[in-house]
Amino acid sequence: MKKVGIIGSTGSIGTQALQVIRELNGEEPESFSVSVLACGGNVGLLAKQAAEFLPEAVSVGDKNGAEQFRELIGELRPGYKPEVFYGAQGLKKAAAFDQDILLNSVVGMVGIEPTLAAVKKGTDIALANKETLVAAGDIVMREAKKSGSRILPVDSEHSAVFQCLEGLRSEDVESVILTCSGGPFRTYSKERLEEVTLEQALNHPTWKMGGKITVDCATLMNKGLEVIEASRLFGLPVDRVEVAVHPQSIIHSMVRTRDGAVFAQMGVPSMKLPIRYAFAHPVRHAAGAERLDLFANSPLTFEKPDTDRFPCLALAYEAGRTGGTMPACMNAANEKAVSLFFRGAVRFADIPKIVERAMEAHVTVRNPGIRDILATGKETYRTAGEDLLRR
Ligand SMILES: NC(=O)c1ccc[n+]([C@@H]2O[C@H](COP(=O)([O-])OP(=O)(O)OC[C@H]3O[C@@H](n4cnc5c(N)ncnc54)[C@H](OP(=O)(O)O)[C@@H]3O)[C@@H](O)[C@H]2O)c1
Repeated sequence: MKKVGIIGSTGSIGTQALQVIRELNGEEPESFSVSVLACGGNVGLLAKQAAEFLPEAVSVGDKNGAEQFRELIGELRPGYKPEVFYGAQGLKKAAAFDQDILLNSVVGMVGIEPTLAAVKKGTDIALANKETLVAAGDIVMREAKKSGSRILPVDSEHSAVFQCLEGLRSEDVESVILTCSGGPFRTYSKERLEEVTLEQALNHPTWKMGGKITVDCATLMNKGLEVIEASRLFGLPVDRVEVAVHPQSIIHSMVRTRDGAVFAQMGVPSMKLPIRYAFAHPVRHAAGAERLDLFANSPLTFEKPDTDRFPCLALAYEAGRTGGTMPACMNAANEKAVSLFFRGAVRFADIPKIVERAMEAHVTVRNPGIRDILATGKETYRTAGEDLLRR
């Protein structure tokens, strides 16, 4: 039986991961058990998940949430008393629990320290939290090499590249090509982008996801984060990570080899396949599999991304090339800008401006340690966008 821990179990990826575990255990009883579950504020859902999967420990956002969880679980499952952690320390404890694999599906920079805690123990990581590899990719990959922990990508593009790379020699790989739906504003003019609302930005054409990543998809920052994530994960310079807009989201990503071949991984747009493959690698399970109808999804088309209308993608390439603490700065500025957009404090078109200004002001630390990265993230988050608010 494989022990899986899930931090971010109440989110879009977390809930789908629990469904994958139900399906895998339906195919082969007791092949997976859940060791820990962790969330931020949705304690009600966490209690229901814990009552079903009986983890040894849970972690919630704060002390009040911990009290609330104890009450709820006492009603749902009398007699069952898991350890209850809370806060940032609780999340780290949950990540460092004794388990075979940790799914990190929390959103944002809060995912960095738990990933490192698990990697240092040698636990395999199913990584959905892309912000970890963007801000601290070099450190995480170095520590993983030392401890023997495997980083198994859950992001569908990186899972696709990972699957295409299996059986290829690294020296034969020329580049990877990340596909991108183009988001809901793919055809909008620059002027029209000035006017878009939060409601429109949350209406993604092909994927149903958490709020922050959905806005990132609309600005193309999500693709920018993924370019850096791919570069760190697969050990390639960012300029060997290409992006192709592919509105149908059927090809999840590709790999070019030096003999001119292009390998693509295709499937219906669903996160369950990458989650299932990360949990069971290298085994492929039929449970819950969705079949692609090629004829219903024809034709497949490709466009070049437009960095003039979507500057976040160009900013991410720049941050990835600069390296050091710059990607952490870019990521934190984006997190802040998106949170301000959610609050209605800035416009959609302000998001790239906030990121660009933060990057211009940042003095990059070369070869940073984890403290430099966390300090950059914290300070950038505190200051980014404040000038736009005051106007
Ligand atoms: N959704 C997708 O299809 C998709 C695809 C590829 C990659 N990803 C990546 O996967 C990550 C998660 O995305 P998502 O769409 O699943 O996000 P989401 O639906 O917003 O879920 C985020 C999860 O993180 C938890 N969380 C947030 N802040 C926390 C904190 N301070 N401490 C502990 N837990 C915290 C939330 O708990 P509460 O809700 O209980 O507060 C929730 O369980 C992101 O990095 C995203 O870029 C997502």
